[in-house]
Amino acid sequence: MQLPDMVIEHFLNPQNVGVIEHPEGIGSIVNPICGDITELYLRIKDGVVEDAKFKSLGCAVTIASASVFTGKIKGREISALLCGSDDEIINELVDLVESELGELPQPKLHCPPATIQAFLEAILGYYEKQMETQITSRVGELIRLLARYYERTKKA
Ligand code: FES
Repeated sequence: MQLPDMVIEHFLNPQNVGVIEHPEGIGSIVNPICGDITELYLRIKDGVVEDAKFKSLGCAVTIASASVFTGKIKGREISALLCGSDDEIINELVDLVESELGELPQPKLHCPPATIQAFLEAILGYYEKQMETQITSRVGELIRLLARYYERTKKA
């Protein structure tokens, strides 16, 4: 299976690996297709992602995805990342990763969504702590919508 050069580059030199102590948000997920684990940590201040780090027990594409995604969300306002219709938000979050990595082989299309889900879980926990029920239910819906992206691996 041929992986794009950017996947290999980020796999060999991953950015933002590590843990943030006392993070505002943590997302820890097990990929439903393969069982690989991704943990994503967020430092959030005044609605802005000040820092993002990850740990992964996953494949090269998962590590490359988290490396790219954490780099792209640093300095971004969460409200800007969650702007638009539910479908637009999910498409844009996935595209943040996939437009950078290049065309992935179909058997690896379930890998990038794990990073996005870990991010959404981290945001969900962050807003739950603040009792922001409206945004919490929206993020929950986004996570449900994202589930179909894992299924791309199975399509012929
Ligand atoms: Fe499990 Fe890539 S093979 S996430």
